[in-house]
Amino acid sequence: MTSEITFIGCGNMAQAMISGLSASKNRYQINIIENDQKIIDKVKDHLPIRVIKSIDYTQSDIIILAVKPKDIKEVCKKLKVKDSIVISIAAGIQLKTIEKFMNGYKKLVRVMPNLCAFEGKSINAIYFNDAIDEKSKKSIDIIFKSIGSNIFFDEEIMIDRATAISGSGPAYVFYFMQALIEAALKLGLPKEESRKLVFGTLEGSCAVAKKNIDNLNQLIKNVSSKGGTTEAAITSFAKNNFKNIIENGIKDAANRASEINDENSAS
Ligand SMILES: NC(=O)c1ccc[n+]([C@@H]2O[C@H](COP(=O)([O-])OP(=O)(O)OC[C@H]3O[C@@H](n4cnc5c(N)ncnc54)[C@H](OP(=O)(O)O)[C@@H]3O)[C@@H](O)[C@H]2O)c1
Repeated sequence: MTSEITFIGCGNMAQAMISGLSASKNRYQINIIENDQKIIDKVKDHLPIRVIKSIDYTQSDIIILAVKPKDIKEVCKKLKVKDSIVISIAAGIQLKTIEKFMNGYKKLVRVMPNLCAFEGKSINAIYFNDAIDEKSKKSIDIIFKSIGSNIFFDEEIMIDRATAISGSGPAYVFYFMQALIEAALKLGLPKEESRKLVFGTLEGSCAVAKKNIDNLNQLIKNVSSKGGTTEAAITSFAKNNFKNIIENGIKDAANRASEINDENSAS
């Protein structure tokens, strides 16, 4: 049976998810509801979707709320679902907030995917509330596996924490890449070669780390000989509290998730 999935909001994240879903071997009828006509025109040209004009009577197996947190209230208040599973991917917004905006509707799921869905490599943090039965959990597992892989949590707070790591995470990695490229240019390496060196290093390091994730310290040691170049850089990172800088950024992101809920939960 073909499941019907409706995305409300079809920006960056929904487009990444639709790309992954349409490339998967599972068959889905994908609908979008989107404010911006330019996005509709662009998406219609290269993704197999149906455009729905109005939220008011949206009924599909799955509805994915893919609007910014500030727009969740307006969307939820307009939705009049009977039996659909409503999945929110909005950062910070808690299910109790969505339940309140939807007059006590309980078939709700929170998922935090990431932008790597474009390449079928999103890591998705998933939390089901009590109203989701086992069969529906399996369907949702399959849907999100078609854009990457899934990790399930029993406590909703873990989704905020995962948001700070994996939801926002691609931006941290791109930021680090950018910093490496800028540093390479300052050393006098040419632009194109700098990009290739940085990208190749990250790609190769991920492949190695995947097989040795328990032993990152040993991997660092394997590259750092006593008195060598790597040791010079790692010593400088440690002296400048690089890990503290990362930890503080992650804490700020996690705290921001609960602030976002507070800012957007008033009836
Ligand atoms: N981007 C990421 O990497 C990422 C990762 C994980 C989770 N998320 C979450 O995913 C959600 C979407 O993020 P995004 O980056 O994809 O945002 P986005 O690019 O701004 O896309 C949201 C789209 O929804 C449209 N929209 C707003 N209200 C609507 C309504 N009532 N009906 C139909 N369309 C409506 C917006 O149009 P207008 O701008 O014209 O209003 C916009 O085109 C956010 O809640 C975010 O927290 C994002």
